[in-house]
Amino acid sequence: MYLGLDLGTSGLKGLLIDGDQRVVGSATAALSVVRPKDGWSEQKPEAWISACRSVLAGLSHGYPKEMAALRGIGLSGQMHGATLVDRKGRAIRPAILWNDTRAHAEAAALDALPFMRDVTGSIVFPGFTAPKLNWLRGHERPAFDRIDKVLLPKDFLRLWLTGDAVSEMSDASGTSWLDVRRRSWSDDALAATGLTRDHMPALVEGSEVSGTVRAALAEEFGLPAGVRVAGGGGDNAASAIGTGVVGEGDAFLSLGTSGVLFAANDGYRPNPASAVHTFCHALPGKWHQMGVILAASDALNWFSGILQTPAHDLTAALGANLQPPGRTRFLPYLGGERTPHNDATIRAGFVGLSHADDRNALVRAVLEGVAFAFRDCQEALSAAGTRIGQCLAVGGGTRSDYWLKLLATVLNVRIELPENGEHGGSFGAARLAIIASGGATVAEACTKPPIARTIEPDLASSEAFQAAYEDYRALYPALKAL
Ligand code: XUL
Repeated sequence: MYLGLDLGTSGLKGLLIDGDQRVVGSATAALSVVRPKDGWSEQKPEAWISACRSVLAGLSHGYPKEMAALRGIGLSGQMHGATLVDRKGRAIRPAILWNDTRAHAEAAALDALPFMRDVTGSIVFPGFTAPKLNWLRGHERPAFDRIDKVLLPKDFLRLWLTGDAVSEMSDASGTSWLDVRRRSWSDDALAATGLTRDHMPALVEGSEVSGTVRAALAEEFGLPAGVRVAGGGGDNAASAIGTGVVGEGDAFLSLGTSGVLFAANDGYRPNPASAVHTFCHALPGKWHQMGVILAASDALNWFSGILQTPAHDLTAALGANLQPPGRTRFLPYLGGERTPHNDATIRAGFVGLSHADDRNALVRAVLEGVAFAFRDCQEALSAAGTRIGQCLAVGGGTRSDYWLKLLATVLNVRIELPENGEHGGSFGAARLAIIASGGATVAEACTKPPIARTIEPDLASSEAFQAAYEDYRALYPALKAL
């Protein structure tokens, strides 16, 4: 038995699988985000521990025999969050999350240092970890001075689970402190934020062992002694492992809170100018590129909150057939944008509203806006040398057939829906646990998933959506100029 734990932004999921990768059971616990100011986004690390306790308790209650036979745990998690711990391993303040853009000035200053993009392979985005530490140095000096270690969210869970401060290459790539080509911390990048290697966790590969579960927790949750915890991966790399996106040219699109267009690479191919992220993969000797938009399902969920109608009802009301693009456009920049604009201060907008617009028209505009933002990512990846002709789709948003058909058409790609796509990073984390525990080789564990359905582009509407995408492209500079 193997357990994948995925610490997402909206919840923590535990997925139990057997050695043949059959799903045995799962448990989830919800998490919420606090936004104390515009552009801020925080969570208390203690809430992650409570969520993890409740998931482990749920699993040991529902599957006691299986949990007693656990051989390994893998961790996946939301990336970039600055989680500051003191010498006793306690969180110093709420974690500053991946979609928090308060450190945009600090990010721009770090990004301007001549060595930064060379070492880290990407722009220093405001949501990455390093600029948040410079913000803290300037605004919360006493907290900064108490820092013993800076951890990423899933690595804070690991500290609680194993007692060891360890990270792995894929998540560490999103800090702006990792030398992504050499897969080790960069002293220069750390010095630029007043830190040294002593403030950093040890590094392993995602498929290596990082520690074992503490005896007290093993007893509390009915686990055998010495269960190994694999390095795991940032949620995107872990999802890639779960969907077999490991070889050159393999790709997936993730419709989670954020939106990600992800391509695996056999070599290190940075292209920061395109605003593509170039990170280590969760397997040794592999890298990946990705375009990231900050609000994908988040945009639909925001609109569903305003309309006080579940997102599923909003998309179901659109019916099954793709309609041509309306005249109303939506720009999904609710909290700024990463790819392709790297703009923390831009905000979202509906443009071209008319009397004829009803609820369905605006829902379509939101889905179209997110699809166009994905198209921007596809163009950015292509500038970075990666052409996406076909991809898998994962994440909560894939429950909408309308959205999938729209995405296939706007991106002009065939989209494949894997059978286990809703498991996100947890399935990949469990696969990494299998590899780390010696239960399978990388090639045996990271197979391509069975495909539940294939969605083809609607060629009859391609031209209309191409024209609408060009309108969409013209709106960002106009909005920016306001
Ligand atoms: C990736 C990113 C998001 C988070 C979401 O760079 O910021 O995809 O990992 O959990």
